[in-house]
Amino acid sequence: MSLDGQRALVTGGGTGVGAEIARTLAGAGAEVWIAGRRAGPLEEVAAETDGIRPLTGDVTDPASCAAMIAEARPQLVIANAGNSVSKPFHRMDAGDLQDMLAVNLFGVFNVFSAALGPMRAAGTGRLISIASTAGLKGYAYVSGYAAAKHAVIGLTRSLALELAGTGITVNAVCPGFTETPMLEDSLRNIMDKTGRSREEAKKALTATNPQDRFVQPCEVADAVLWLAGVNAGAVTGQAISVSGGEVM
Ligand SMILES: NC(=O)c1ccc[n+]([C@@H]2O[C@H](COP(=O)([O-])OP(=O)(O)OC[C@H]3O[C@@H](n4cnc5c(N)ncnc54)[C@H](OP(=O)(O)O)[C@@H]3O)[C@@H](O)[C@H]2O)c1
Repeated sequence: MSLDGQRALVTGGGTGVGAEIARTLAGAGAEVWIAGRRAGPLEEVAAETDGIRPLTGDVTDPASCAAMIAEARPQLVIANAGNSVSKPFHRMDAGDLQDMLAVNLFGVFNVFSAALGPMRAAGTGRLISIASTAGLKGYAYVSGYAAAKHAVIGLTRSLALELAGTGITVNAVCPGFTETPMLEDSLRNIMDKTGRSREEAKKALTATNPQDRFVQPCEVADAVLWLAGVNAGAVTGQAISVSGGEVM
């Protein structure tokens, strides 16, 4: 599939799933801007691959998202930046929930809002959120994260209906546990809090996947690549699970 002549913005593109999405889109010929708060990881990814450029910014800040869009002028927007903090519900306070909503929900809202005007004017575009299987089902100890991801899917489905007929599609990709720095934090958290070994912690997480393994970032990136392509124009309002069959 060729994305020659397309410009893409990938938030959270300095690490994990976002970095792999950026490499995949650049490999298909797109010019790709990757955004995040830390310059270091962004610059490393950009230095490795032609066609990728770093942009520092914070998706929780609408002005920062407007600046990203003004710089990248993307036809393809991948709202991937996110964060997961696990805590039992009884230890959570409103601030914990707000933190999860700020990056995982408002981060998507801010970047989609900033991109929409130019996309509408152009009459074409792809808005893709990286949600999670936690947007389709619950998991213990991550109620704030799951609430935010469920909300992202609701936003994605509703916006798709508003934009049907404009040439802009809106979809969510929902990975199961995927081998990235975020997963590494989850494994470390399980080991620290339960005294389990690394192997036991891994087993607890892969057990949620019927294929009994972690999803790989390239598997998420290829779903994004397909959604970005011209032949996915009829696909909109979908929440596509990339999870070994975990959520049917
Ligand atoms: N790994 C999994 O098991 C899994 C499963 C389902 C869904 N997901 C989703 O996949 C997406 C990518 O996660 P990942 O696993 O690749 O984790 P990751 O490596 O921790 O990536 C998250 C990225 O988001 C960026 N980010 C965080 N807060 C930001 C902010 N306020 N503004 C701008 N950028 C911000 C981070 O960069 P900075 O810190 O430099 O800002 C980082 O590059 C997330 O939305 C996550 O919820 C992951």
